[in-house]
Amino acid sequence: MKVLSGIQPTGRFHWGNYFGAIRQYIALQGNEQSFYFIADLHALTSVRDAQALEASTWDAALDLLALGLDPAKATLFRQSDVPEVTELMWLLMTVTQHSLLEKCHSYKDKVAKGISADAGLFTYPVLMAADILLYDSDVVPVGADQIQHLEVTRDIAQRFNAIYGGEFLKLPNARVLEAGAKVPGTDGEKMSKSYGNTIEIFEAEKPLRKKIMSIKTDSTPMDAPKIPETCSVFTLFQLFATPEQQAALADRYRAGGMGYGEAKQAVFDAAMSYFADARTKRTDLATKPSEVEAVLQAGAKRAREKGREVLDRVRSACGLGTRRT
Ligand code: ADP
Ligand code: TRP
Repeated sequence: MKVLSGIQPTGRFHWGNYFGAIRQYIALQGNEQSFYFIADLHALTSVRDAQALEASTWDAALDLLALGLDPAKATLFRQSDVPEVTELMWLLMTVTQHSLLEKCHSYKDKVAKGISADAGLFTYPVLMAADILLYDSDVVPVGADQIQHLEVTRDIAQRFNAIYGGEFLKLPNARVLEAGAKVPGTDGEKMSKSYGNTIEIFEAEKPLRKKIMSIKTDSTPMDAPKIPETCSVFTLFQLFATPEQQAALADRYRAGGMGYGEAKQAVFDAAMSYFADARTKRTDLATKPSEVEAVLQAGAKRAREKGREVLDRVRSACGLGTRRT
């Protein structure tokens, strides 16, 4: 089974990204083949600052490796280090119907928000299809927001196969990441970069404490009993704590006499201890850029080898690449 997924380097990863996606990618890395890439080409549809993109792509690599992505088990690479993907994208584009892309929520939502629709944003799902189809991927773990893009990918692959009369492209399946993992942000809404309510995984200790202390809570007085189920501080605590620790804090909520400040301190302590090893590892990796670069280069080499094989198959299906002698 070939597993593949990508994540955009559009800023530092936050708790929502970790519990909603990264943790689950890492759990799947023992598969026969797993490819994970940093989708820097996709990020170009929103990041237009060379230094910022370069820095967040690098940070993404350090973060993923520190969080447990193991280059001995999985292939990690930068999307832009595999030029085959953009070539495949063009070939796919020639069989992709405009109407299919017009239906995509990601595009429609951005346009509705007034973001100007350039061709990159519009054809974003075709690049994503190329990412997936280039490696004959079987399973693509994604968040629920990406299911439609997987359907588009299957649609494009089917159309290509039907037009050229063969099984040239393998149809992938989405593996929707565990539901219920909707991590709340500091304002109680879904944690997301676009809402400015994120808590970053590798945030330095002081600002981390400050962000946690700023989590919105209701105005139940200190002495009064509190309801853990509806409190985002408690929801966040659950991500990091054992069932026993969760039950103990829930009892304190219900008993009254505990202020939210104390619950927030518990979240801070639990998060610090949960990511302690990853933090140490990240600090260490940051001092070894050439080792990290070597991991990315080795990953790109493996990805390109597999990609070449599929691309050649697709090129010859369309009548490209044959030489007369
Ligand atoms: P953001 O909303 O901050 O821009 P992305 O859209 O780049 O984050 O998300 C990357 C991955 O992280 C997706 O697979 C998404 O499902 C997951 N994710 C993001 N935020 C959350 C959240 N608050 N709860 C659960 N999963 C999340
Ligand atoms: N569009 C995905 C996201 O925003 C990232 C992505 C790009 C991706 N290419 C992919 C995910 C291929 C899975 C497979 O989350």
